[in-house]
Amino acid sequence: MQEELIKVSGGARLSGVVPITGAKNSVLKLMAASILASGATTITNTPAISDVFIMGEVLKRLGAQVHLDGHVMTIDTTGINSYETPYDLVVQMRASVAVLGPLVGRFGRARVAMPGGCQIGSRKLDMHLLGLEELGVSFEVSHGYINATVPKTGLKAAHVTLEFASVGATENLMVAACCAKGTTVIENAAREPEISDLANFLNLMGARISGQGTPVITVEGVDPSSFVPVPSYSTVGDRIEAGTFLVAGALAGGPLTVQGVNPEFLALPLKKLKSFGAHIETGEDFITISREEPLKATDIQTLPYPGFPTDLQPQFMVLTAVAQGTSVITENIFENRFMFADELIRMGANIRIEGHHAIVEGVEQLSGAPVRASDLRAGAGLVLAGLVADGETTVGELTHIDRGYEGFVDKLKAVGAQIERA
Ligand code: EPZ
Repeated sequence: MQEELIKVSGGARLSGVVPITGAKNSVLKLMAASILASGATTITNTPAISDVFIMGEVLKRLGAQVHLDGHVMTIDTTGINSYETPYDLVVQMRASVAVLGPLVGRFGRARVAMPGGCQIGSRKLDMHLLGLEELGVSFEVSHGYINATVPKTGLKAAHVTLEFASVGATENLMVAACCAKGTTVIENAAREPEISDLANFLNLMGARISGQGTPVITVEGVDPSSFVPVPSYSTVGDRIEAGTFLVAGALAGGPLTVQGVNPEFLALPLKKLKSFGAHIETGEDFITISREEPLKATDIQTLPYPGFPTDLQPQFMVLTAVAQGTSVITENIFENRFMFADELIRMGANIRIEGHHAIVEGVEQLSGAPVRASDLRAGAGLVLAGLVADGETTVGELTHIDRGYEGFVDKLKAVGAQIERA
C-alpha cells in the first residue's frame, strides 16, 4: 500500500483563525488519573489524536469503558479489574506510564511495561521510581516490566526532592501522594500548565493539592475510597499546538490567530517571536501573529517551564533557518532532539550541531524536498519548512504527526496553505 504523504508547496501567505484543541500532554494524564475514582468521568475538549486513542485502549485493558464522541470523552472506571499495562501499548506510547501513580494509589499494585527510549532520547524513569519508593512503593523490574507493590499499611507521605523538574515524575508522584497517609511535599516539581490542570482535576475528585505551578507542590493525602469521578471537565488549550501554528504565521506572514489557548502559557515563545520580528496581539484566549519585516536571527535555549519549551524547539529551528544572521539553539531537555536538523539540512538549511548546541546560519530560502518525520514535533516542523520552501516538500512517517495534531493539514489549508495529504 502506497505510504500516505503530506505534500506542501511553498509561497502562500497564511491568514485566518486556527481553532486549538485540548492539550495532549494534559488530557492523557487526566485520563490516567480518572482511575483513582470509581464511576463516570467526562472530559469535554479531548483532541481526537492517536495518543488519546492509545490511552483509551490502556484504560479498556484495565477494565474501564471509554467512549470518544467528537471531542467529548467519557470514561467509566467502575469495571476496572486489572493493574497491568502491557508492552504492546506502552511501546506505542510511553505516556502510558502515567497510569503508574493512579494504579498504586487505588490498588496498591501496578505492572507496567518499561517503555524504552524513543527518537528524541532515552526517556528514563528513574525519578518516577525513586520518588514513588519514598512513598513506600517497592519495585521489582524484570522481563521488561515494572512490578510495583505497596505494603498493606498503604502509601506514606514523604518530602521528595526531584533531581530534575521532570513532568512525568511530578505527575506520577502527585497522583500517588493523593492516596498517601499524611502530607507529601514535592520539591523541584515541574511547573508546566498541564501539571496545574491535573492538580485542579484531582482536587475536583477530592484530593487536597496546593502549590501546583510552583516548584513546591504540597499534597494532603486522603482515603483513596473517598475519591469521586469528575462529571465534566474541560482541559487547558494545547500551548504546543498553538505555538506550532504561530510559527506558521511568523513564517508565512499572517495575520494568523490561534483561538482557544491562554497566552500566559506561551510567554517566552511570544517574546522570542517578537525578537524574530513578528507582531503579536493577545486576548483572553487567543493570540494573533503577523510579520512584515525580514526574520531576524534569535537564540533559543530549552528549559523546564516557564523556560522555552523543548516541544517548540524544532518548529523555531525553522524560523532560525530562514532568518537573517546566525542563531544558536541549545537543547537542554532531550539529548537527541536535533535529529530533525538533518532533514532541514536536506532542504538547504545551514546548521552545525555541536553537542547540545545547533548553530544555524539563516539562508535566503529553503528548497522543497522529500523528507521524513523522526518524531511528533519534528514532523510538524518539516511541514512548516515546506510552507516557505521553494517548490514542493513531501513529508513521510505521518504517524508521528497524528499522535499530537488533530486535523493538522485541514487547519493549515483553512488559512491558505497549498497542502494536501494523500
Ligand atoms: C513530557 O514528557 C511530555 N510528554 C513531552 O512532550 C515533553 O517534551 C516533556 O514532558 C518535557 O516538557 C507528555 O507529557 C506525554 P520529562 P516527560 O520527564 O514527562 C529525563 C511531545 O512532543 N528524565 O520532563 O517524559 C528525560 O529522559 C512530548 O508532546 C529522566 O532522566 O518529560 C528527559 O531527558 C515529547 N528520568 C528529561 O528528563 C526520569 O525519571 C525531561 O523528561 C524522567 C525524565
